[in-house]
Amino acid sequence: MGMYNDKVMDHFMNPHNIGELENPDGIGTYGSPVCGDMMQISIRVENDVITDAKFKTFGCGSAIASSSVATDMIIGMTIEEALAVTNKQIVNELGGLPAVKIHCSVLADHAIKSAIYDYATKHGKTYAGLEGFDPNAEEDDHEGCDIEE
Ligand code: FES
Repeated sequence: MGMYNDKVMDHFMNPHNIGELENPDGIGTYGSPVCGDMMQISIRVENDVITDAKFKTFGCGSAIASSSVATDMIIGMTIEEALAVTNKQIVNELGGLPAVKIHCSVLADHAIKSAIYDYATKHGKTYAGLEGFDPNAEEDDHEGCDIEE
């Protein structure tokens, strides 16, 4: 288990915010082009603030830890603040991930954007940070990733 620090292990063993919100204001799923793993995030939004978030991850331990910490981070943020969260911040919050696992944090970053995209689409809203975002886009391995592997 030497690859992973204690914080990653803790979020993997005891993930926060697991599951799916009932009647979410936004829900998004994102599949990693790198490994094929999937993540779903559902959000509750009140007055442009994310008041709750839950995730389901069909993926590896790093993806589970990333989504656990990422949902913790965005609860209480405005939509704009949540859109500005980068996978690098998620990795930092976890105290680091092995280089080959950085793409797992990208999954969390994109799943958040997918959920907000769904919220924005359903409510006819536009947000800076969502321009050009397509939850179904095919991406190459590194697009959207702030950290060189
Ligand atoms: S290996 Fe697929 S998300 Fe981590």
